[in-house]
Order: sequence, then C-alpha cells, then structure tokens
Amino acid sequence: LVQHITDSTNLQLMQALQSNKDLASASVIVAEAQTAGRGRRGRSWYSPFGSNLYFSYYWKLEQGIQAAMGLSIVAGCALCQVLQRHYQISTKMKWPNDIYIDNRKVAGILVELVGQADGACHVVIGIGINVQLPLQALQHIDQPYADLATATDHAINRNELVVHLQSALTYALKQFQQTGFAPFQESFNQLNLYAQQTVTLSGSASATGVCKGVDNQGAILLEHAGQIVAYFGGEVSLRAA
Ligand code: ATP
Ligand code: BTN
Repeated sequence: LVQHITDSTNLQLMQALQSNKDLASASVIVAEAQTAGRGRRGRSWYSPFGSNLYFSYYWKLEQGIQAAMGLSIVAGCALCQVLQRHYQISTKMKWPNDIYIDNRKVAGILVELVGQADGACHVVIGIGINVQLPLQALQHIDQPYADLATATDHAINRNELVVHLQSALTYALKQFQQTGFAPFQESFNQLNLYAQQTVTLSGSASATGVCKGVDNQGAILLEHAGQIVAYFGGEVSLRAA
C-alpha cells in the first residue's frame, strides 16, 4: 500500500493489523511524507515531503516475544546490505537501531510489537531513510544527519529501493526465524559504528566502557576494568564518551 501522506506508516500498519488479523507477513506501507513520524521513546522523526522514504513492514514471528530483541539489528543489517550492494554506499550501525554515514545519521529503525493472543509475535518494522533532505532539515534535526543523495552519484529510484528493502528484509527474517540471532552477530560487528571506542550507555541502564560489539543474542558488550558486561536493548542509548 502506498500513501502520499500519512501520520505514521508504523501507526497505519498497526491499525491495519488490528482490523485484519490475516495480514500477510512482508506486507508494507510506504509514504512520501509523515505528519507524526515517530522514533524511539516518544521522539519524532522528521518526515518532510520530497525525496525521502518512510516505510513499514509487517512480520509474524512464530517464536514469540522473547525472540524480538535482535530484530532492529537484523533489519539494520538488511538495510546496510541493500545500500552497499545496489548503491555502493557504505554505512555503519549504531546499536540498536540507527544507520550512519560518516558519523551522521541517515536512517532510523523503529520496531513495534503488536500483542495478540495467538502465541506469535506480530512486529512492525518501521524504517525512515533520508534519500534527499531539504535544506530546512537543519532546523528540525538536533544531531548530525546525512542523506543518500549526498553520498552517491547514483540516482536513487525510491520504488526500486522499496523492492530491494522488502526482499532483503524477508530473506533476513526467514533466516532469523530458522537460526535465531547468531548469524547476525558477525554482520553487526563488521558494521559497528563504535567498534573498540569508549562509549556511554544511558537510559534504563548506565555504563561506560569499550564497545566490543554484540553477543549472539544482540546484547551490546561493554568492557570496563577488564570485565565484559552485556546490556540488552530497550530503553537505552549509546553515545561516544
Ligand atoms: P538512540 O536510538 O541511541 O537513542 P537517537 O538519539 O538517534 O539514538 P532515536 O529515537 O533513535 O534517538 O531517533 C530520534 C532522533 O533522530 C531525533 O531525536 C532526532 O535527533 C533524530 N532525527 C529525527 N529525524 C531525523 C531524520 N530525518 N534524519 C536523521 N535524524 C533524525
Ligand atoms: C529512530 O531512529 O528512532 C527510528 C526512526 C524510525 C522512523 C520510521 S519512518 C517510517 C516509520 N514510521 C514511523 O512513524 N517511524 C518509522
């Protein structure tokens, strides 16, 4: 489903799911602008009309809710792979949900769970990609940002990007469903924005340490005073110390 302008593609897909319990996995909603684009923890996603992509993807995860933890990383790896393979754009990932080009955020991922009492876990994976931001973005985004148009000479056809992204997500999620997170550990660790850097974790947990990548479940590993401690996702953010 393609919408010209909407409040939030995540919200729309979650509502669609509530009224149609048989929605097929890999269904997507795509919009050209959002009036209430959302990020994690009540933050907003700047979503002007123009040349960006606002995309939400539905997947029914048979394993149930515990398995959902590594999902934003799985989706992020799929996105980075698409950008590298089809557009020769190299990106990094900031655990657990952001995509960067040269230390600037180019895309964000918001995974939301739709609870339903059938044992499965219904997830909506929302991805916002800056394809070409207008100059006014500077007034709306309070941290360094990037867009794809600045990073490549390729003209980016957003319809093609959606198709690549949908098929890469489906491939990754099928694998995740069969094997769990383990195969994605190495993929994330190669893309880790903060590899071997001292970082600070804040939010529902606080810590400072050298970033050692993720473990085989997607928890971030920080080394401090010779000890490595794993921190799970959720309400936490990572920053360079
Ligand atoms: P973390 O996920 O580690 O907490 P974060 O500060 O990037 O990091 P998020 O909730 O992931 O927080 O993303 C929302 C933030 O992203 C906003 O507060 C804003 O700083 C930034 N942002 C909003 N819109 C855009 C955009 N179109 N492009 C790049 N960055 C954006
Ligand atoms: C983040 O960095 O916090 C995640 C941002 C996710 C933005 C996308 S845009 C498409 C989908 N719909 C939303 O309202 N949010 C996600």
